[in-house]
Amino acid sequence: MLVSMKRLFVDFCGVVYRALRPVLFLTNSETIHEFLVNFGGVLGAIPPVRCIFYSLWVKESQTLAQNILGIEFRNPIGLATGFDYKAKLTRILPFIGFGFGTVGTITNNPYEGNPRPMLGRLVKSRALLVNKGFKNDGIDAVVKKFKNTETFYPVGLSIGKTNSKETATQEAAIADIIAAFKKAEAADLPFAYYELNISCPNLFGNVSFYPPGNLEALLLAVADLNLKKPLFIKMPITESDEDVMKMFEVIHSFRVDGVIFGNLQKDRSHPDLLPEEVALHGKGNFSGKPTEKRSNELIKLAYKTFGKKLIIIGCGGVFSAEDAYTKIKNGASLVQLITGLIFMGPQLAAQINLQLPRLLKKDGFKNISEAIGAGVK
Ligand SMILES: Cc1cc2nc3c(=O)[nH]c(=O)nc-3n(C[C@H](O)[C@H](O)[C@H](O)COP(=O)(O)O)c2cc1C
Repeated sequence: MLVSMKRLFVDFCGVVYRALRPVLFLTNSETIHEFLVNFGGVLGAIPPVRCIFYSLWVKESQTLAQNILGIEFRNPIGLATGFDYKAKLTRILPFIGFGFGTVGTITNNPYEGNPRPMLGRLVKSRALLVNKGFKNDGIDAVVKKFKNTETFYPVGLSIGKTNSKETATQEAAIADIIAAFKKAEAADLPFAYYELNISCPNLFGNVSFYPPGNLEALLLAVADLNLKKPLFIKMPITESDEDVMKMFEVIHSFRVDGVIFGNLQKDRSHPDLLPEEVALHGKGNFSGKPTEKRSNELIKLAYKTFGKKLIIIGCGGVFSAEDAYTKIKNGASLVQLITGLIFMGPQLAAQINLQLPRLLKKDGFKNISEAIGAGVK
């Protein structure tokens, strides 16, 4: 299919999805999430279905391909952590346009999730309310599931601390995270990289890895593991520039390959949130558009501090090719998303990849790597 026809078709799929969205959004958020993840898992297990999606939606472009830390990324658009916490979508996502994706967050012990509701939609604010607190089946289940799984693109594993009373001190939390890493390393899973999630805001107790001393203690323990795969740290967007700079100083002294900016927005009075929508929801934090501005500022701060010495993954509020391109020009080598997928449709990654080469060309770039950080003075 010609690129222009493919672009038209993919755009059309987006229009159809958004027309059906009000009906989808009538269902309970958790129920539809579970259904879509299971459905995606079934589709991914059928090779002809994968081929059909691929031929209708995906256009490979050398302009978007990068080798980062020895990993081949066919394009820069990835699924952020949290959507595929059961590792069910890794066989379908590459065929609908994603260049990589992270499974998790997975913890040493399973957790059934925080008291319901764990998810909510703020349609006008283009945000989701998230209060899952690392709902997941635990590292043993993931090891079992993934041991002999074939992967079609770089799959990452996000690890965090088990959400429980037993891990509510700094020492216990570190021991718990290390135990999960040890199991993942011992199993030699086909994951391409790790994410270390230090920024989940919905957890039991007051464990925090934001104070530099606490972060150093965690990274010292992780360094002792001599991980076989690249390590990215999933950072908060809730801290001040000064505090993030202090965290950077610690990160700089360890073998950390990259940072991800960032996690959820906890400010309920954020200007991008409509107060009447927020009032309808209880405990939790926000994804989507309310994360975008701060994520972009912190990507820029990281790029100004480290340049290309540290890989930056931009995450937060990406709903279009323009949104992804802004993160790339601020310094992100790769981009992740979840909320955009839910609001704009399953074709979003393919759609962004069909549009990015034109945005790059307009600015005179021959390859995405030339655009990384180009907007930072
Ligand atoms: C339903 C949901 C679950 C999430 N769970 C996790 C998680 O387990 N670990 C994590 O690091 N981030 C988690 N996040 C945060 C996302 O990875 C991402 O940082 C955030 O949503 C901003 O990106 P977005 O605006 O594209 O959604 C979750 C987000 C959503 C919407």
